Amino acid sequence: MLKLKFSNGDEMPAIGLGTWKSGKGEVGEAVKTAIRNGYRHIDCAATYGNEAEIGEALAEIFKEGKVKREDLWITSKLWNNAHLKEDVIPALKITLKDLQLEYLDLYLIHWPVAFKPGVAFPQSNDEYLSLDEAPIIDTWNKMLEARDLGLSKHVGVSNFSIPRLEELIEDSPEPPEMNQIELHPFLQQHKMLEFCSRNNIHLTAYSPLGSGDRSSAMKASNEPSLLENSTIVQIAKKHGASPAQVLIKWHLIRGTAVIPKSTTPQRIIENLGSAGVSLTEDELHKISELDKHYRYVTGEFFVTKGNSYSNIYDEDDYKE
Ligand code: A2P
Repeated sequence: MLKLKFSNGDEMPAIGLGTWKSGKGEVGEAVKTAIRNGYRHIDCAATYGNEAEIGEALAEIFKEGKVKREDLWITSKLWNNAHLKEDVIPALKITLKDLQLEYLDLYLIHWPVAFKPGVAFPQSNDEYLSLDEAPIIDTWNKMLEARDLGLSKHVGVSNFSIPRLEELIEDSPEPPEMNQIELHPFLQQHKMLEFCSRNNIHLTAYSPLGSGDRSSAMKASNEPSLLENSTIVQIAKKHGASPAQVLIKWHLIRGTAVIPKSTTPQRIIENLGSAGVSLTEDELHKISELDKHYRYVTGEFFVTKGNSYSNIYDEDDYKE
């Protein structure tokens, strides 16, 4: 199994199961199917609202006795309403309780955006905290403290642009070990890949297949489909593989971790088998030409007039 190596020697399996949008009543089965079929990496977050069911599934798996806690890599994320110094460790402890775990392998700041405590999703500007009220460096220092307490083996961030990463690198002697961001052939983010490789920051690709099951309310009618893209479909046919497997292999070749979400047993298994697909230089070149700087998951909903977050993205990577 392909792995990403951390500076202390720990290794994260490059393919993990994504659980965003995996509904209650199905996520537990998905996690059990994944682990029974060889997955050793599960990606979670408090805001997905399904960590308690994942915790039940993990407890059942451990009870079976074939897979132990230390065989798994479990990631979770701090939601935006717990950025204040006093809220970080309590939020992590709730996640641990829900997941029925003693420790995480990786804990990430979910977005570089802070809401007021208790606000699940802001309806107005006064439900945000400004960057002065909740400086990212203070949240980050608490993440490091949580790691030192043994609550998570590694800490990192998610949805951080290059300028946001640069600030953390400048302000902290211990910069993040991971940035989890949206990545796929329509949003290749070459500058981010190069920056992270230069600064020893691993990347995890979320929505690696194009996030096909986002809620219809969130979907734009003209959203391009990645799994049905003709270049991807043709390459898949040539190799007797599925489009999803071609996409996942493309991520692996770029050296990032990848967390395709599925609650369909056959797809969960198929996705883990992607490492076996081989892509030619010519095919990689064709995929490299698909970049549209297109985000399925935009953080722009956090940007309202007068709040601190107008610079959430590095503009060059954002707009077409
Ligand atoms: P489902 O969960 O119903 O199996 P992303 O990880 O980019 O957010 O993509 C998740 C979407 O892709 C979900 O709609 C999921 O469907 C679908 N999906 C996951 N794996 C595959 C696959 N191998 N083939 C086709 N669709 C897949």
